Amino acid sequence: MKDVYILAIESSCDETACSIVKNGREVLSNIISSQIEIHQKFGGVVPEVASRKHVENITGVVELTMKEANIEREDIDAVAVTYGPGLVGALLVGLQFAKGFAFSLGVPLIGVNHIEGHIAANYIQYKELEPPFVSLVVSGGHTFVVHVKDYDDFEVMGETRDDAAGEAFDKVARAMGLGYPGGPKIDQIAKEGNPLAIKFPKANFHEDTLDFSFSGLKSAVLNYLNSEKQRGNEINVPDVSASFQHAVVSVLVENAMKTIKSRNLDKIAVAGGVASNSSLRKALLQKGEEENVRILFPDAILCTDNAAMIGSAAYFQFIKGHVSGNDLNAKPGLSLGGR
Ligand code: KG4
Ligand code: ZN
Repeated sequence: MKDVYILAIESSCDETACSIVKNGREVLSNIISSQIEIHQKFGGVVPEVASRKHVENITGVVELTMKEANIEREDIDAVAVTYGPGLVGALLVGLQFAKGFAFSLGVPLIGVNHIEGHIAANYIQYKELEPPFVSLVVSGGHTFVVHVKDYDDFEVMGETRDDAAGEAFDKVARAMGLGYPGGPKIDQIAKEGNPLAIKFPKANFHEDTLDFSFSGLKSAVLNYLNSEKQRGNEINVPDVSASFQHAVVSVLVENAMKTIKSRNLDKIAVAGGVASNSSLRKALLQKGEEENVRILFPDAILCTDNAAMIGSAAYFQFIKGHVSGNDLNAKPGLSLGGR
């Protein structure tokens, strides 16, 4: 079969990203223009600012991506773009650009579900990986345990009932004045703390389900911080970070292992920004070894938002002939497996 080159665009949140992916697994270039510094001033992503920055950045990011991959316009077989979930204004910038670009090249447009893109990052990292497997998706907006039955067939086994795992990291970090995004900061500071110093509640929804609930844990941490302040005690930030992180990681590991056992599978592929968390990596790898389950993690650059993962997911749609019409619209609330 002829090689397939896909130009992919991702603009669902605060990264303007473009990538060229060959045959779904080989990344020829992967450019990410992050707006983090701008949003840091506000302590989180400001949607209007994100959209405006995407408009400013997208043309340059796409040009640079093609240049780095040493690719000409006529080499591109399809243009892929994230159409949801995400911030509507941010999604629309990538979508409009992708539509125009695909039309001008005379190639198909492929709309990609952002969460499915996160899972596909594992196909880039592990060239031999094929479904079925279990995926633990942990990002700023989503938390899922999912049975990946095929490249385009997902069964959600458990999900969060309130905050996402990354969101909990960001909110707790903010309360301790650690800045945005909070996940990497807590990860770093927790290395100097004791994970058993403070006993925070577990973040599962109910023992009988595979669902998560992080808002109770988040409130417990905020209450702890307030009451310590009121008592005039100094907060031990490393201990709070390590104890909070321990509570998050233990439920993620527990639910991922329960899911794999319920399906008799042998691989867990972790996906999303929180997948770069060092404590999660360590705990899952250890559990995997004990239980004879292979644990897969993409490199950090493929865990947080990027367009290479979108190009990979798009490839598996393309070879099945699933392409989008020019009426493709942004779907801010798109769910995993949703179209
Ligand atoms: O997947 P992602 O880049 O964007 C979304 O689709 O949401 O995830 C971003 C999230 C943020 O909440 C960030 O704090 C978190 O991933 N994150 C981490 C780490 N690195 C990023 N959380 C915990 N530990 C990390 N090392
Ligand atoms: Zn994401």
